[in-house]
This record gives sequence, C-alpha cells and structure tokens, in this order.
Amino acid sequence: ADWTSGSRPSSNVAGPEMNPNEISRKLNMSRLRSAMLKGKRAGLEMAEAAKPSDVLGPPEGTGDSPSPASTYHSFHDPADVVLLRSRLLHWYHREKRELPWRTLAVTESDLNIRTYAVWVSEIMLQQTQVATVIDYYNKWMKRWPTVQDLAAATLEEVNQMWAGLGYYSRGKRLHEGAQKVVSELKGQMPHTVDSLLKQLPGVGRYTAAAVGSIALGQVTGAVDGNVIRVLCRLRAIGADSTSPAVTEALWSQANILVDPEGPGDFNQAMMELGARVCTPKGPLCSQCPVQSHCHSFQKTSRKLLGKLNRKLSTLPDIEDCANSETCPLCPSQPWDDELGVQNFPRKPAKKPPRVERTLTCVVIRPGVEGEDEYLLTQRPNKGLLAGLWEFPSLLQEKKSSEMKEKRALCTQISGLLGTHLTESLFQYVGEVVHIFSHIHQTYVVQSVRLKAADAQTQAENAQWLTGSALQEAAVSTGVKKVFILFTQRACEAPGTKTRQTSKPPKLSAAPSRQLSLSSFFNSVKQES
Ligand code: ADE
Repeated sequence: ADWTSGSRPSSNVAGPEMNPNEISRKLNMSRLRSAMLKGKRAGLEMAEAAKPSDVLGPPEGTGDSPSPASTYHSFHDPADVVLLRSRLLHWYHREKRELPWRTLAVTESDLNIRTYAVWVSEIMLQQTQVATVIDYYNKWMKRWPTVQDLAAATLEEVNQMWAGLGYYSRGKRLHEGAQKVVSELKGQMPHTVDSLLKQLPGVGRYTAAAVGSIALGQVTGAVDGNVIRVLCRLRAIGADSTSPAVTEALWSQANILVDPEGPGDFNQAMMELGARVCTPKGPLCSQCPVQSHCHSFQKTSRKLLGKLNRKLSTLPDIEDCANSETCPLCPSQPWDDELGVQNFPRKPAKKPPRVERTLTCVVIRPGVEGEDEYLLTQRPNKGLLAGLWEFPSLLQEKKSSEMKEKRALCTQISGLLGTHLTESLFQYVGEVVHIFSHIHQTYVVQSVRLKAADAQTQAENAQWLTGSALQEAAVSTGVKKVFILFTQRACEAPGTKTRQTSKPPKLSAAPSRQLSLSSFFNSVKQES
C-alpha cells in the first residue's frame, strides 16, 4: 500500500490457515515487502516481522549487565508469527464491531480527512470506553468533518461538545493541534508516525502508532492497555507492566507481530481481542483464536493438570523461562492458582485518590423570560477542567462548620456580584461525590435565590444560564450532578435544610456513591 499517495491502507490480510510451504513463502514475501517499505518509513520504529535479530529475540545472558529476557517471552519462530496473525485476523474479520472510525478508515479516500478522523477517534478513546465514545464521535465528525472545520471552531464550542466525556485537556489538545495543522502545516495532517508524534500536541507513542497504522498503513505495532494485557498473557510477561524493561519488550514484540500487509487491521484486532476476549477479569480463553500461542493459558492448563496428576506436578516446568531467577520480564511474585491467566499482567498498586472537599453554590435569579437562571463561573485556562463552567466554588482546606462555610461562600458570591448578601439567604442542599481519576471530590452544595436587583455581574468569567442552556453548556459531569441534586431537592417539600453532621442526608442515590445521571444526561463518566 502506498500510504504516501493518498490511497487507502491495504486491507490485505493473511489468508486462511496455511500449510508450512505457504507459511514460509508468505513470510519471505512479507520480509521482502518490509524491506521495500523500509525506504519509505523514515524515522519509524520498524516492524520488521522477519528480521532475524528481532525474531530470535535478545541473546541469552552473558556479561555483567542485567540478565536479558529469554526467548520464552518473545515471538522467535517465524511460522508461529504467521499463524498467529492469520488466526487473529480471521477472528477479527468475523467478530469485529462496526465502529464509525473503523468505517471511515476504510471508506474515506482522502488521506488528510482519514488521518484527521482516526486521530480524533484515538484521542477520544484514550481513557474512555468505546460505547461512550461512539455518540460523541459521530456528533463531532458531523460538526467538524475536516481538520479545517475544527481549527475554525472556538475552544468554548469544543469544550461544549466534549462535556461529559472527561479528561477535558484532550479536546483542548485536538483543537490546538488542528489550529497548528492549519496555520503551520498548510492544512496537511502529518503523515508519518514520527511526524504525528512530533507535531501534534497530546499525541504520544501509542496514538502516533495507532493513527499511523490505521489511517496511513504504516507498519508499526501499537501498544495500548488492551494490547499490554494480550501480549503479557501470550508471552507470560509478569514483571511490572509499567517498567521500562517490560514496556520496551512489549513494543518490540508488537513490532514483530504486526502484519505488514494490514497493520491497521492487525493492531485493531489485538485491541479487539483485549476488549472482547482477553479481558482483565473473566477472560474467555475458550473463545480465543490464539489460545494455542498463549504461554499463560498453557501454564494454567499445566497447573490444572498437575493438580489432577501428582506425578506431573513434580516434573519441572520445561516450558518456562530459562532465566526466571534474573529475568526482567518474569513475575517477581509467585504464581496464584486462583488467578490462572489473570496472573498476567502485573501492575504496581494504584495510589489512592486525593480526597478533596469543595463548597459550591447554586445561585438563582428570576430570568427575563420567567425561567430561572443560574450563575456560572469559568475555571482557569490551565489545570483540572480548564476553561469549563461551574457553579461558584471554593476548595476547602479542611472541614469547618456549616456557618463558616456559608460565610465563605457568601463573601465570594457577594464579590462576584458586587453586592452585599447575607448568610441567612444560603440554604444547605446536600453533598455530591464525584470520582476523578486521581481525586475523590465531595461537593458540598448550598443554594441562594436572589432578587433580580442583586443579581447583576460584570465579571468576564461569569454568566447566567437557564437550566436548559446549562445542560448544553461546557460544564463537567460533577456540575451536572450538583444541578441534579439541586433540582431533586427543589422538588421536595420546602423548608430550611441544615447539614446533618453525623449522617449525610439520604438521596435517591446516596451521596457516598457516584450519583448516576443517566436518566437525565446522556452519559456520566469518571473524568479528569
Ligand atoms: N481503542 C483504541 N483504539 C481503538 C480502535 N481503533 N478500535 C477500538 N478500540 C480502540
């Protein structure tokens, strides 16, 4: 496939299972093909599927340097590689989900649009599940079908479109990247893995490789979370999967495995396998197309058999890593029979999230049309939830009395409106818990209803929105949850609420859990 000329990436894949002669002919052809493509792939980490030094894996341990991994953890048999590709791709073509970005990647003939479309999908798919992304993606591509369209949008529009998807800096980076492509790159998306990596903000090693292989047919592996799991299980890599040694080993194996005739399909097949079969919990090994290539499945089966047959269990594991004592890819913890293939991969324990408490206030005024309006302020352009709109809020250093909290909010809102409000106007509404990736946030919600005369603001970073406008605005899921709580409480019997210090008030969704808004807003996600 000539990916430089705007043609579609090759969708040629290995045929049905082949006899050994066919395998070696095919592998030789793919070697030749790799060599021919080599010249075109300046700066690419190459997937030289059949390059002997890679295929054979690193040399066995000699000298003083840390012991290298044994061939046990690599794909060193070319016939095995061809067979694995063929089995995986057959399964993929039979089982794959039709996803809008996959369709665009094969139907869109314009190279620039195709690259843009896949770039958008890969950014949205970072940290967000496929099912959530689909709707956002379709809306985005309808509104901004080209990189030029996106560059012409405002950040406010982008944030509005992104609202609810979480990790908001992703939308901002896409927007920045589009503006850079238009203003500095003559409207042309970068078209090599290396230039994607260097020129687009927010594009790292994985995203560059995914876009390069899927949109441009570049021959490179792409290692995301799903692929880490698949490869660690296939090759029984049980050392910390975030360590440099494991990371490099995984990229190297992904580059060996990738099909030079259809790298985009191959990479997506690996991701699909990780998402649908080789799942973190409850993997469906019996449905796995590459079960016979999987060291951890073999290990699990041997252990099970060993349990049934004592004699077998006293025999050494001849198929294990030869250097397991010093191997940088072998697990440092013992095998857990209960876990089976889930012994792989191993990650260090996650740091517990930071606990934060934020005072927030729903400020209401009568609107001109008779509909209530709510005061929103804009967050700074940098940091968490940059540029998004929220109810006036104050991060609490430590918990204090309800009276002090009301006073603090009252002072802040009086300043914002340039008027003097009294604390007695403020009503306690309740608490909302929202989990970000690294923060356990509790919003302590108050409300205050103002007369129109009190409620003018000249502040640039403040605006009044009706309830329906608020739902469409660039606000985070946490703000939507606060608004839901407020509207639920407004519907309950009126009366002054006070904070119950022992037990928080009971909501239909308890405040100690994440409140689900699915009946109100489209999707609620953990966000950052
Ligand atoms: N996750 C990341 N990229 C993906 C893709 N192209 N298809 C499905 N899931 C993905």
